[in-house]
Amino acid sequence: MTIFEMKDDPQSKIEEAIRNPRNLGEMKDADAIGTVGSADCGDMLRMWIKFKEENGRKVIDRATFQSFGCQTAIAVASVATELLKGKTTAEASAMSGEELSASLGPLPPVKIHCAQLVEGALRSALSGEQTQTASPRSTSTTLLQSFASDSASEKKMKIVFQPDEPRERDERDAR
Ligand code: FES
Repeated sequence: MTIFEMKDDPQSKIEEAIRNPRNLGEMKDADAIGTVGSADCGDMLRMWIKFKEENGRKVIDRATFQSFGCQTAIAVASVATELLKGKTTAEASAMSGEELSASLGPLPPVKIHCAQLVEGALRSALSGEQTQTASPRSTSTTLLQSFASDSASEKKMKIVFQPDEPRERDERDAR
């Protein structure tokens, strides 16, 4: 494999996104919050969205995320939160996991649900935004608390994002 191929393949792009994740962390003044968990793998992702007015349109100003999930979900959330800037609710709602992860290249079949986790968190946030803004209760509940709540008690925690951790999880998933 050449150096060019190594840098251009999806796994290298995912690793690069993990080394420098964008928009990671809770947003205190968010207008909308969405949380989603995967029943299949137990991973969980929360997304915060802040809107602004631009040329008479309400568009996404910023989006941030936290994840108890695999590296691929974190990488997709990183690129997706960048991609969402300037999108209206309708435009963002229409985006699939494949579109949100497009800059990473085509994901292997075992990783497609990781992008769908990000899509789910986005849809959850936007559907709430259409009817109500984030409640104080939702902002005070951390992702870890949600993960440990009764409804999630059967799920197992797989990984807490640490940039320097070994990448055993993705290697195992790729098999
Ligand atoms: Fe479950 Fe990636 S989101 S393995």
